[in-house]
Amino acid sequence: MESSKILDSAIWRIAVKTFDTGRKISKTDFATLLDIARYSPSSFGLEPWKIIVVQDEKIRSKIAECATGAQRQLETASHFVVFTVTTDLEPTSDYFKHICFDIKKMNADAYSEFISKFAAFQKEKTDLTDFRKRIDWAGKQAYIVLGNMMLAASIMGIDSCPIEGFFPSLVESVLHENGIIDSKKEHIVVMGAFGYRQNDPEHSKIRRSFDEVVCFI
Ligand SMILES: Cc1cc2nc3c(=O)[nH]c(=O)nc-3n(C[C@H](O)[C@H](O)[C@H](O)COP(=O)(O)O)c2cc1C
Repeated sequence: MESSKILDSAIWRIAVKTFDTGRKISKTDFATLLDIARYSPSSFGLEPWKIIVVQDEKIRSKIAECATGAQRQLETASHFVVFTVTTDLEPTSDYFKHICFDIKKMNADAYSEFISKFAAFQKEKTDLTDFRKRIDWAGKQAYIVLGNMMLAASIMGIDSCPIEGFFPSLVESVLHENGIIDSKKEHIVVMGAFGYRQNDPEHSKIRRSFDEVVCFI
């Protein structure tokens, strides 16, 4: 694909508030976006995220009660996604072991080398002993997933909107009460709406200049 076409898609992307309710993203296209999400990078390959696709209207309207920034998107988006992250990130935790043994197929030696590297990283770089810092560290990675999905969507002619305008603990309660997440272990960091725009934007995209943003040394 020509790079200019990718750039055109990035410029075409806007944060859509109201989607065209008459148009739904095909199963195949949305599955592609989810696979693009799955292949995103993650620190130490821990994939600390989960992607919840909320298609149930009742749950969407309950989320809307605690999401001022997503009112119209929840009502109109073809697909609405909630990103949670796990804070179960001790090297001895079930999640950590699942990644090491079930997913990466490590043997005992590889696991012990991996956890000592991770422990050093935790200490030097991120201080993941703190619960809030764990959510932020894992959450930053979920944002990369959402970013990848949004760019891929724009290349496919699909619209999106990233959403932070919500009360995480209230949305967590909604999902916990409905048996969708375990709010002790899973925390909502960001949400995203996908679909097709109802209207084209009235103004073209405005951004700081290239030279203000980029510097070569
Ligand atoms: C992390 C993040 C959170 C955002 N949260 C919301 C939100 O809650 N509701 C909303 O309508 N737009 C939200 N936006 C969209 C921004 O307002 C929008 O991207 C920005 O104004 C630039 O406009 P553009 O994306 O159309 O170029 C969010 C964007 C980002 C990156």
